[in-house]
Amino acid sequence: MNDKQLVAEYAAQRIESGMLVGLGTGSTANFFIEALARRQREENLQIEVVASSVVSMLKAQQLDLTLRGVEQIGGLDVYVDGADEVAPDLTLLKGRGSDLVREKILAKAGKAFWVLIDKSKQVDRIGQNFPIPMEVMPFAWQLVQRSLAAIGGVGTLRKSGDGLFVTSHGSLVLDTAFDPDLDGKTLNNLLDAIPGIVEHGIFADLTSAVFCGHQGSVEETAV
Ligand code: A5P
Repeated sequence: MNDKQLVAEYAAQRIESGMLVGLGTGSTANFFIEALARRQREENLQIEVVASSVVSMLKAQQLDLTLRGVEQIGGLDVYVDGADEVAPDLTLLKGRGSDLVREKILAKAGKAFWVLIDKSKQVDRIGQNFPIPMEVMPFAWQLVQRSLAAIGGVGTLRKSGDGLFVTSHGSLVLDTAFDPDLDGKTLNNLLDAIPGIVEHGIFADLTSAVFCGHQGSVEETAV
């Protein structure tokens, strides 16, 4: 079992009957969905789930989990997802898989938000390993790019094959690099204030706990 599987199994053990559980997107979230489905099968765990992407929805469906739509819920007991980077203050970078809009909505809707990672995701600062993805209104991408440049950001449109990448919400993605001196929370506030950004990949003040799998054991950091 690798560290992603280990941490996914660990989190799935924490789920209790009666919970409404948000499902993240990505390889770690997939392991979590599989572990939940196994507990439902083998232990008769009674849960309902809400998916953050079409991929997770299809996986949950195939495994016979009971799905509810985002539009049907007033909140979640817990949202469980992976991350691309985790800073020491538990600010996250997410969205390299391009589903950050739903992911952030569900992370906010959860009474708790558990983040499942292996050591490779721990960084000193947000943006250390990856540019920050932002979904932008297609007609406004050049204006957004200018607004980003005004705060030192260099944004490049994400490509797909010979064309541009388009998200499931019809947005373009500007992957944007910033000055390393800008910390994640400051950047979060600056980006929140730019019109035309539908959503960006910094998740600040949302995490409840990070479970990190490392060499066969799980370290837990709670807020
Ligand atoms: C999806 O949009 C991302 O935010 C994922 O949560 C993130 O990329 C983690 O993916 P892995 O679990 O595959 O590493």
